[in-house]
Amino acid sequence: MFNKEYERYKEFIESHLLDFLPEIDRQSETLYESIKYSLTSGGKRIRPILLLAASEFCGCDINSSLPYAAAVEYIHTYSLIHDDLPCMDDDEMRRGRPTNHMVFGQNISILAGDGLLSAAFEIMIKDMLLYFDDPLKLKCRVRASYEIAKGAGCRGMVAGQVADIESQGRKCAKEYIEYIHLNKTAALIVSCIRAGAYLGCGDKDRLKALTDYGEAIGLGFQISDDLLDIYGDTETMGKCSGQDDARSKCTFPMVYGVEESKHKLKSLTDKATDIMEPFYDEGEFFTAVAKHLALRNK
Ligand code: IPE
Ligand code: IPE
Ligand code: MG
Ligand code: MG
Ligand code: MG
Repeated sequence: MFNKEYERYKEFIESHLLDFLPEIDRQSETLYESIKYSLTSGGKRIRPILLLAASEFCGCDINSSLPYAAAVEYIHTYSLIHDDLPCMDDDEMRRGRPTNHMVFGQNISILAGDGLLSAAFEIMIKDMLLYFDDPLKLKCRVRASYEIAKGAGCRGMVAGQVADIESQGRKCAKEYIEYIHLNKTAALIVSCIRAGAYLGCGDKDRLKALTDYGEAIGLGFQISDDLLDIYGDTETMGKCSGQDDARSKCTFPMVYGVEESKHKLKSLTDKATDIMEPFYDEGEFFTAVAKHLALRNK
């Protein structure tokens, strides 16, 4: 990987990801297998990494923010399982393996997604139960989980996914494509970063900088996903390229053209790095992530 810090966070989250799965009875073994299959099939883990980094940037120990980092990866993994279903994007490959429904069937996949989403809230609430005698820490945790709920739900990722489906096969206006990308992808990324800031009880300046940074890289993240769908290599990405065009998806390159999309990605990356540069060494990880994401090939 591109950076030691990134690897440190990634190893930390990966080594603990399954620790947070609720105990599942023997009779539900298929559910467990299906959830485990998708949780352990890799991925960049960018959302939990950003949460951990933002929490550290705001003074929180990463062991304390770990449950929230696991929760966002559970939510993200559920969103991918559902996104790949035949009634959604109908994809057969994800993270280098057959998609969840190809292995377990659509019915189990839907329920595995439901299970992951519920588990995410169970994890966060279970953690909050430990802080009843410490109102300040409890408040930070309630705020963090509220951010995550908002970003994942009807005013965030779910709304964006609906807009994505409704735009399919239609001519898409510039404002509408921004709405789709800001909601289906940037919203959860922003909420991970803001949740991290709240967990560290960060001050207003840091919260504002992280929020603006998150919006810039979040929108950029989906623009590069759209570009990779055109130019990326299926094997490297672990998912099939060429799917957006085949399904007449409303994407950034479709609305703006490839060159303007690349230009927009570059200006969002510059914006993100400019926001974090005043924090000098402390902001370095965030600027490195922004630059890396703009050049990613998976
Ligand atoms: C894919 O997310 C879905 C989008 C929001 C573009 P990632 O590109 O973060 O997927 P993984 O987790 O690395 O597999
Ligand atoms: C997915 O966007 C956004 C989600 C919320 C899962 P895409 O549909 O473009 O993501 P990929 O390309 O399948 O990973
Ligand atoms: Mg999709
Ligand atoms: Mg998809
Ligand atoms: Mg895509």
